[in-house]
Amino acid sequence: MRVLLTGGAGYIGSHIAVVLLEEGHDVIVIDDFSNSHPEAVRRVEELSGRPVIRIDCDLADLDASSRALADVEFDSVIHLAGLKSIGESVSRPSSYYRTNIVATLNILDIMAIKDVRRFVFSSSATVYGTPDSPVIDESHPVGRGLTNPYGWSKWMNEQIIRDVQHARPELEVSLLRYFNPVGAHPSGQIGESPSGTPNNLMPYVAQVAAGTRDRVSVFGDSYATPDGTGVRDYIHIMDLAEGHLAALAHLSPGVTVYNLGTGVGHSVLELIREFSAQSGREIPYRVTAPRTGDVSSAIADPAKANSELGWRATRSLADSCRDSWLWQSQNPQGLTGQG
Ligand code: UFG
Repeated sequence: MRVLLTGGAGYIGSHIAVVLLEEGHDVIVIDDFSNSHPEAVRRVEELSGRPVIRIDCDLADLDASSRALADVEFDSVIHLAGLKSIGESVSRPSSYYRTNIVATLNILDIMAIKDVRRFVFSSSATVYGTPDSPVIDESHPVGRGLTNPYGWSKWMNEQIIRDVQHARPELEVSLLRYFNPVGAHPSGQIGESPSGTPNNLMPYVAQVAAGTRDRVSVFGDSYATPDGTGVRDYIHIMDLAEGHLAALAHLSPGVTVYNLGTGVGHSVLELIREFSAQSGREIPYRVTAPRTGDVSSAIADPAKANSELGWRATRSLADSCRDSWLWQSQNPQGLTGQG
């Protein structure tokens, strides 16, 4: 296959690119590098030993992206391009909606013009809003209790994609709802490179382990969970990347939704303890107030992806912490200042 990866230089995209290239697929990355670095693409080429076609372009700009993709051949799209900070989405809602919605409309229009039919969308467990139970399957209602524009933009994108597929029934779509992607490529060469203060738990913990930050703030310890801290389904980024490959291989006309998660939950304190064990570093923390909008537990029921895609997450939280630490310790500044 010739796969166009929108946002392909980012944390998730770069890992998917390696997996696709290693499986013999060709990869075209389109990215505006607003929250990623060209060095990631160079490292993907180095790790896989294969070239990547790189297109520097903002997908939210229809004229520019139509021109940039006019002569590029691809038969499948994995659409990852978008903004992803929940907090920032609350303070800059119009940028979030403009970027996340317009980029999706544009790539779907470009696909129609080029008669490309295979589409995998990077959605999120965030669409489940405030879940009814800790373990969530794909039939759980979406949109209830959503509290931020980032989450709404994922929810809206799912609806837009369904409507476009309805109008173009030959489209083959997979909506992948990610739980909490963590970890890094086992080489430590690519990983999550947050700009500024990390919003998510594992990159924050990694920076505390490295001594870049003083201590982790544990957002609340009075949740209805075994140790009182929030429980999440942390999925190793390589498992997540392999999930995309499986989704691509099983596309058929229509829209299918899959949870990508492990089915196992871990608390904030468990993650801190495991990271400390894997890094051999002390990780100071202090319990602070709960973060607005957080739910106590969110764990995937991944049975549908397991049975229909023949895919399952195989890596443990220990693997994630080990690989995240390797990435962090080899790249203390992320990819900033590289290449
Ligand atoms: N947490 C802390 N301290 C921190 C950061 C997080 O205690 O400094 C806690 C949170 O309260 C939560 C857990 O760690 O209990 C995980 O928080 P993250 O911010 O890492 O992840 P979230 O579950 O809040 O959100 C992630 C992605 C979203 C996605 C969602 C889907 O960031 O994009 O998973 O479940 F929508």
